[in-house]
Amino acid sequence: MSDPRKLFIKTYGCQMNVYDSERMAEALGPSGYVTTDTPDDADMILLNTCHIREKAAEKVYSELGRLKALKADKPDLKIGVAGCVAQAEGAEILRRQPSVDLVVGPQSYHRLPDLEARARKGEAALDTDFPEEDKFDKLADRPKAKRGPTAFLTVQEGCDKFCAFCVVPYTRGAEVSRPAARLIAEAEDLVARGVAEITLLGQNVNAYHGTGPDGGEWGLARLIRRLAEIDGLERIRFTTSHPNDMEDDLIAAHGDCPKLMPYLHLPVQSGSDRVLKAMNRKHTAAQYVALIDRIRAARPDLLLSGDFIVGFPGETDQDFEDTMELVRTVGYGQAYSFKYSPRPGTPAAERKGQVPAEVASDRLQRLQALLTEQQKARQDAMVGQEVGVLFEKPGRLDGQLVGKSDHLHAVHALAPADLIGKVARVRIVESAPNSLKGALI
Ligand code: SAH
Ligand code: SF4
Ligand code: F3S
Repeated sequence: MSDPRKLFIKTYGCQMNVYDSERMAEALGPSGYVTTDTPDDADMILLNTCHIREKAAEKVYSELGRLKALKADKPDLKIGVAGCVAQAEGAEILRRQPSVDLVVGPQSYHRLPDLEARARKGEAALDTDFPEEDKFDKLADRPKAKRGPTAFLTVQEGCDKFCAFCVVPYTRGAEVSRPAARLIAEAEDLVARGVAEITLLGQNVNAYHGTGPDGGEWGLARLIRRLAEIDGLERIRFTTSHPNDMEDDLIAAHGDCPKLMPYLHLPVQSGSDRVLKAMNRKHTAAQYVALIDRIRAARPDLLLSGDFIVGFPGETDQDFEDTMELVRTVGYGQAYSFKYSPRPGTPAAERKGQVPAEVASDRLQRLQALLTEQQKARQDAMVGQEVGVLFEKPGRLDGQLVGKSDHLHAVHALAPADLIGKVARVRIVESAPNSLKGALI
């Protein structure tokens, strides 16, 4: 048999892309590929891309520029672009960067082996369809090899919400939920391979409505409760959720399903009703605050995470102050905030009143200062508390392990190596800038 070919995948963007990259590598196994961690010895390089903001998309073109040089030394090297830039720009990528051999959109990864064969023969290999069939049904079975203690599992893809600023409904297509029976089987398989924590993924994960094994429709809470029955699966998380899909049984699960971790990423984007309306978020700031109150009533120690956009077209100083006020009211333990980036083809890009860059930068700085302060306070408040920590790997110091707490804080502690992959009880003794120090109980 000939030596395996080497595949290097570089992943940008959200966790969904991380999961997809794993599945793409597996899909190309039967074509003779094994993965490598460096582009230098690769026979094929795939960029799994993100289109969410202009910077993200531009990164891809600068990387392609660099890869062109690699190809000059190695003419057999194949370069592919997958993910959301592939979907959004399609054939334009081949025109703009002729060194690219293959372009594949997120819903067509099951067609990769065929596209790869075409690219090898020097034929055009472009597929940005939204096929009828579900890619996950058609992808090769997953390998049985042991793996690390945490894994992602995509349960739902696509988005029907059409927030005015966002490209995702165009790059990932309409909402599709995978059948629960397949997800249960995949989760059982992951646990058998050493996984103790699964994060369920979806662009709108709480809009999940898959067919249950009983033929009925299952929501996310039902799926979580069923997955919680798997022996050896210690922890369940999910991301990203939309406030309008936070149904009662999901809120209740935060209170009564011990394997569901006390962490919730629930983006609000803005605290101004005017801006929320223009964004097409379909809820008000007060409704969001009331929702958070209900979730915290179910799980008082919940750590809340959010996303914010500043400088949305038409955002006034007062609108921005409303966002600051909402942040003060809610209190976030983790947050991501962005300057609005106009995306081609989205309604917001056509709106009047684009906010000057300096104004947006100034707002971003103020918002981030507030969020950083809240994040630090939440982390510092863990000192003295007892938490579960899933140890993932050795730490920097001798005898140390690092892992994540229930609330997703990074924790390091002196602990025996055989605790890797296990959840241990730890008392937090110190709060460092980006992690906590703990002692085994
Ligand atoms: N499905 C998720 C978000 C996916 S995108 C949700 O609805 O919350 C992740 C984050 O990127 C968004 O929450 C938003 O804060 C940010 N984002 C999306 N489009 C953007 C744009 N055009 N400019 C700036 N930030 C954007
Ligand atoms: Fe984008 Fe809105 Fe859908 Fe989230 S809910 S993916 S922000 S359109
Ligand atoms: Fe980016 Fe696509 Fe994810 S645009 S954030 S990679 S869904």
